[in-house]
Amino acid sequence: MDRYTTHEHDVLVIGAGGAGLRAAIEASAADVNVGLVCKSLLGKAHTVMAEGGVAAALANVDDRDNWRVHFSDTMRGGQYLNNWRMAELHAREAPDRVRELEAWGAVMDRTKDGKILQRNFGGHKYPRLAHVGDRTGLEMIRTLQDHGIHRGITVHMEATVFRLLKDGDRVVGAFGYDREHGRFLLYRAKAVVLATGGIGRAYSVTSNSWEYTGDGHGLAYDAGADLVDMEFVQFHPTGMVWPPSVRGILVTEGVRGEGGILKNKDGRRFMFDDIPDLYKDQTADTPEEGWRYVTGDKDARRPPELLTRDHVARCIVREVKAGRGSPHGGVFLDIAWIREKIRDSEAHIRKKLPSMYHQFKELAGVDITTQPMEVGPTTHYVMGGIRVDGDTQMSTVPGLFAAGECAAGLHGANRLGGNSLSDLLVFGKRAGEHAAAWAKDHDAGTVGEDQATDAMRACLAPLERDGNGENPHALQRHLQTMMQDHVGIVRNERDMTHAVEQLADFRARAAVVAAPGSRQYNGGWHTCLDLPNLLTVSEAVARSALDRTESRGAHFREDHPAKDPSLAGHNTVVRRASDGTMEVSRLPIPALREDLKAIIAEMG
Ligand code: FUM
Repeated sequence: MDRYTTHEHDVLVIGAGGAGLRAAIEASAADVNVGLVCKSLLGKAHTVMAEGGVAAALANVDDRDNWRVHFSDTMRGGQYLNNWRMAELHAREAPDRVRELEAWGAVMDRTKDGKILQRNFGGHKYPRLAHVGDRTGLEMIRTLQDHGIHRGITVHMEATVFRLLKDGDRVVGAFGYDREHGRFLLYRAKAVVLATGGIGRAYSVTSNSWEYTGDGHGLAYDAGADLVDMEFVQFHPTGMVWPPSVRGILVTEGVRGEGGILKNKDGRRFMFDDIPDLYKDQTADTPEEGWRYVTGDKDARRPPELLTRDHVARCIVREVKAGRGSPHGGVFLDIAWIREKIRDSEAHIRKKLPSMYHQFKELAGVDITTQPMEVGPTTHYVMGGIRVDGDTQMSTVPGLFAAGECAAGLHGANRLGGNSLSDLLVFGKRAGEHAAAWAKDHDAGTVGEDQATDAMRACLAPLERDGNGENPHALQRHLQTMMQDHVGIVRNERDMTHAVEQLADFRARAAVVAAPGSRQYNGGWHTCLDLPNLLTVSEAVARSALDRTESRGAHFREDHPAKDPSLAGHNTVVRRASDGTMEVSRLPIPALREDLKAIIAEMG
């Protein structure tokens, strides 16, 4: 059996996007020794794909905004399945987290009087998204990375965690390998924070890059933690659809926040055709009113393009299915039209949306200042994840914390754009703080040698099979296509039952995947080791979606198109049963606190 290198930390943070960095900073501020594991290079994270802004009720652009409105918007967006304690903490603490980021060096766009500028986004009642053009996530990562490095955090780059290590019930470390040389790594830690992001790579059309294979979800599930709300996968309405090589790349909601409108091939602004009851009071009746809103008229109502993402994505699918789509299977997103309204619109668009301008120019040969973009839904985010305590972010497994996308609760059935960046700041900080406190109160525990030996054996198996084993890339491709086709935006029982059967077959095939070659730079081997997590999250999504026999938020079933009031009061939980099968159950949502209930009633 091979050897491994051991690293010891008080707190080990797995994942180095915004949530992981923020957790690591906070833990290190509590004077504990912190290790931060990144699957790729530090700074490369899906956080940068939250382009249009970070949601926080700073009230810089509209003084009617405050944490109570933000709380109420988040709950309405999540269709009241949210962990309301998290929604409260998030809305209350986001403004401080954003100001703190600015104090650490983030350079935000400004209002004329020098405050942080905020823009409109779907489902937010007032302009609430603090931003840096359309590069907000990038600026956040840059700032957190600089700050974290100067705190002396130990960074383990290009390392993948394969398994969590336990002492009895408690998590006390992790086992993995370095991607460059394939050498094994054993991390001992008193507390572990998972911040590995999402599951986008379980689908074929996604804004997520190769790292997002549901690692944190899979590791936590295997360690005995509960996953919750996994049926809720967010399909961002606007990804690129053409050319094929860039299909799925994000087109920020900031385009619509700056006045971009959606049209079908007949030039019809189809978003006016279906306004959900829940948002009738907020949505403009005429294009003129919507434009007035974009330009800051506080009495005007919002354009329908700024309805929540689940709804906008479904409207786009409806247009495409009805044969009213664009040539490459999307619809048109037009920001160029604002030249009818403002002078020097080209400079304005290039200033507000610099990345989108370059993205379309370079990748699609489209000048967005004069031409419409072709866009369609792309798998962007998973609302579901590791069940955590709202205050401490500890999972149902002692010593194991989670924050950011891999943790669940805040967003309920659907996340509002921009709430991911504030989520990772607020709950990254909380996870780091509480993991550090846990580490101070506990010893390092014991890791049995058998755990390392067993993990090494499992890692090496694909290398030791002969060339007749399954090709891991082909299997991953089959999985992605199957999930896209059968557990995608529009679902039904027949397709999802088929998906569950297919997943059993894929699991059998994953058990015999082979990766010829050595452990050095072996992408095939890495894919073999990603597959178990991808299969776990795919099964969790399919089984949870089968169990929720209604349509709510991001989960739409054509065989149950309405909401079922009897399902309004629970979250769906999956956990690993003692025989290794996946068990699905329903967890009642605790009654909303009276003061929070009053806020929701007051906001209508
Ligand atoms: O559209 C966007 O800029 C994405 C933001 C988000 O997912 O929060």
